[in-house]
Formats: sequence, structure tokens, C-alpha cells
Amino acid sequence: MIFSMEHFQTTIEELYKAGDWKEVIVVLQNELQWFSHVLWVRPSENNLKFLANSVIQNGLKGIVSIGCGSGLLEWLIQSATGLKVVGLEVDCNYWKSYHQHNGPSFIQHIFPDSPEFRYYCTSEKYALLFCYFNYRKPFDDYMCNYKGNCVIIIGPGYGRGTHTNPEPLDPKFSHGNWILNGAQEIGNTKDFIAVYINREKNKEVNN
Ligand SMILES: C[S@@+](CC[C@H](N)C(=O)[O-])C[C@H]1O[C@@H](n2cnc3c(N)ncnc32)[C@H](O)[C@@H]1O
Repeated sequence: MIFSMEHFQTTIEELYKAGDWKEVIVVLQNELQWFSHVLWVRPSENNLKFLANSVIQNGLKGIVSIGCGSGLLEWLIQSATGLKVVGLEVDCNYWKSYHQHNGPSFIQHIFPDSPEFRYYCTSEKYALLFCYFNYRKPFDDYMCNYKGNCVIIIGPGYGRGTHTNPEPLDPKFSHGNWILNGAQEIGNTKDFIAVYINREKNKEVNN
């Protein structure tokens, strides 16, 4: 499907208002231009279920998405699986004007001036998600402060032609003993979901 940017955004927003997450997936997967400011990846229903199952299997109650952007992925996960997903962003002014001038946002963002921000990004009850996050020092800081046992990184695999730091399949954690628990390609896009767990923290949670 070939869309103008405006038509693409309006189509997604109308489907969002109607709660039609399945059709949002269809539109995203058939969209040729790949308007990444709305969402960097093109997940399938199976990918959304893989994400939710990875979190539930680790005894956690939801996902905290760091740098959630428009929040479309977060809304899709929540709608398709019923899992709670919280979205954190840094720049309050940008997201207010994004909503007014550039297009819809699909989640209630939580910003650093809210006391909830620190609670969510450190909580042992939630998995942290970094989707197309490309900020190494903040990533290391989040990982240093996080008390939970599950971190999910979404980004490009070999040959995708885009870049993130951390990379999903080679995140180079600077804190803690994280091991790969599962990975899944997003459709045939060469983007990957990688789920890491920390067995030491698993023991703390279960004791
Ligand atoms: C490339 S975008 C990805 C957005 C979204 N996750 C997606 O996949 O479409 C990276 C996002 O990270 C946010 N960001 C940058 N530094 C951050 C930080 N220290 N904490 C939280 N979010 C941050 C940016 O504002 C931006 O929205």
C-alpha cells in the first residue's frame, strides 16, 4: 500500500480509535514507505504474543517501554495480549507538540518530572523494553538502576541496514549477569526481539 504520510497517520489513528489493532498490524505490514516516526518496527500478532509470554513466564506483571515514542507498539501489545504496558519518554515539550502538529500518540507518556518515572524504570515487577533505542550511556544507567530480571531489546540484526546501541543480539551489558532467554525475528524484516533474563535476580524474586 502506498500512503502519503498524512493518510497513513489518519488511517492508523482511526483504527486506533476504533480499537482495531488487528487492522493496524495489516496496515503497518503492507506499508511500503515505512514511516518510522510512527513506529520503527512492523510486528506480527505472533511477535506481540511472544513479547507478552516472555514477560509472564518470568513472573512479571507488565512492560516498561523506555523511549516509547508514539506508543503504537505499546498499545498493540496491550490490545493484543491484555498485558499492562507503560511508556516512558524524556522530552515533555516535544511530545506535546508532536501530538498537536505531527500526529497522534497512542499512549499516556510518563516523563522524568513524574515520581512514577523512577518507580517504573527501576521496578522489579516489570520487564524493561528498549525498542530502537540508540543511546548507550542512558541504557547503561537504566540497566544499573533496574531491579528486575527481564530486559527486552528490539532492533536490527545483521544486514538490516539500521543501527541501535544496544543491539538486540549483541547488547554488551555493562551491569549484571544477563543471558539470552529467547529471540524472534519481526516478520521477515531482519529486526529482532531479544529477551534477556538475569538468573541471580530470578533467585531474589523467588525467595
Ligand atoms: C528511535 S526512537 C524509537 C521510538 C519507539 N521506541 C519506536 O520504536 O518507534 C528513540 C526514542 O528514545 C527516546 N529517548 C532518548 N533518550 C532517552 C532516555 N534517556 N530515556 C528515555 N527515552 C529516551 C527518544 O525521545 C525517542 O523517542
